[in-house]
Amino acid sequence: MTSIATEQTQAVLLQPGVVAIQQAAVPEPGPHQVLIEVAVVGICGSDVHYFDHGRIGDFVVEQPLVLGHEASGTIRALGSAVVDRQVGQRVAMEPQETCGRCTQCLSGRYNLCADVQFFATPPVNGAFAQYVVLESYRAHPVPDSMSDEAAALIEPLSVGVWANQKAGVQPGDRVLVTGAGPVGLVCADVARARGAAWVGVSDTNDFRLQTALQRGANQVINAAAGPLTEQIEPVDVILECSGATPAVHAAFAAAAPAARVVLVGMGTPQMELPVAMIQIKELTVTGTFRYANCYPAAISLAASGVVDLDGLVTGQYELSEAAEALQAAKKNPQTLKPMVYPGR
Ligand SMILES: NC(=O)c1ccc[n+]([C@@H]2O[C@H](COP(=O)([O-])OP(=O)(O)OC[C@H]3O[C@@H](n4cnc5c(N)ncnc54)[C@H](O)[C@@H]3O)[C@@H](O)[C@H]2O)c1
Ligand SMILES: [Zn+2]
Ligand SMILES: [Zn+2]
Repeated sequence: MTSIATEQTQAVLLQPGVVAIQQAAVPEPGPHQVLIEVAVVGICGSDVHYFDHGRIGDFVVEQPLVLGHEASGTIRALGSAVVDRQVGQRVAMEPQETCGRCTQCLSGRYNLCADVQFFATPPVNGAFAQYVVLESYRAHPVPDSMSDEAAALIEPLSVGVWANQKAGVQPGDRVLVTGAGPVGLVCADVARARGAAWVGVSDTNDFRLQTALQRGANQVINAAAGPLTEQIEPVDVILECSGATPAVHAAFAAAAPAARVVLVGMGTPQMELPVAMIQIKELTVTGTFRYANCYPAAISLAASGVVDLDGLVTGQYELSEAAEALQAAKKNPQTLKPMVYPGR
């Protein structure tokens, strides 16, 4: 067994726009936790938002915060009571801990637990670090054939799995995904995997639309080119992944009677919804908050090659370049997933 250092390096958000490299103690795993050496971390829009603004809604960065929640790594040590994991296992990290005993947890909707602790959400530190600890059952083993990058991106894929489950996407459905960022792209992938007859993806970014097409979308629509309703037939399912008000309104207009609408995109906390249309078409509208129990399905979709997660990677950065990675999307519209490698 390799010996584990007692000191580690982490990248810490000190204030908006300022990330510092700091030394910290390597955490000790609790009885039911594992110590994981972090391999790679994907940059998420929420990391970028904390970096730019120091807050997302009511979550405010009030003390130095380690960002990063889309992470993979290798188990290096086990807590005293861990029997379900082994040192040396490569894992995708499910970056949350919940109470396990409230009504929501017991109903399988642990994403709605009032006591949820989620990586890189103040005040909980994330994975821009060489080592993290995690409850053993949240460290999901991945096959050797899966890259570290894909294992990290099981996190956003789980968002897509949950959104498709909430929509009840089934064979034959016509599915519209609005927003072709990483989340929209994997939502479209999962819809195809669930047997959708037609998957359309809208965005205003041509690179992202081309990516959606290459990944297997049946049609891509530039939202700036005119009303969606003039470009596509009505759809049974809408997976809204932009958070942009015009996209939400365009999507509702494209809904067939009895369509299911899932609002995944965040960013506009309040907006008008077409209530009369929801009534007249009897639309089912819901939101999603992260995911629950989706890692096994997401790992299977990626391991089987049905969803190509490696194809989302558009940049590689060392930990000392975390600030650069966080600004990659602003500088280059051809960015999907910048990845940070704490071990390099
Ligand atoms: N519900 C959840 O638990 C959850 C989890 C992760 C991410 N999210 C949210 O999902 C959204 C997507 O995440 P992402 O990482 O892919 O973000 P992203 O910002 O990379 O992608 C959003 C895309 O929407 C596009 N867009 C903007 N206006 C549009 C319009 N009018 N029509 C069509 N597309 C338009 C943008 O060009 C962009 O490509 C974000 O709002 C994010 O906050 C939600
Ligand atoms: Zn994320
Ligand atoms: Zn709970």
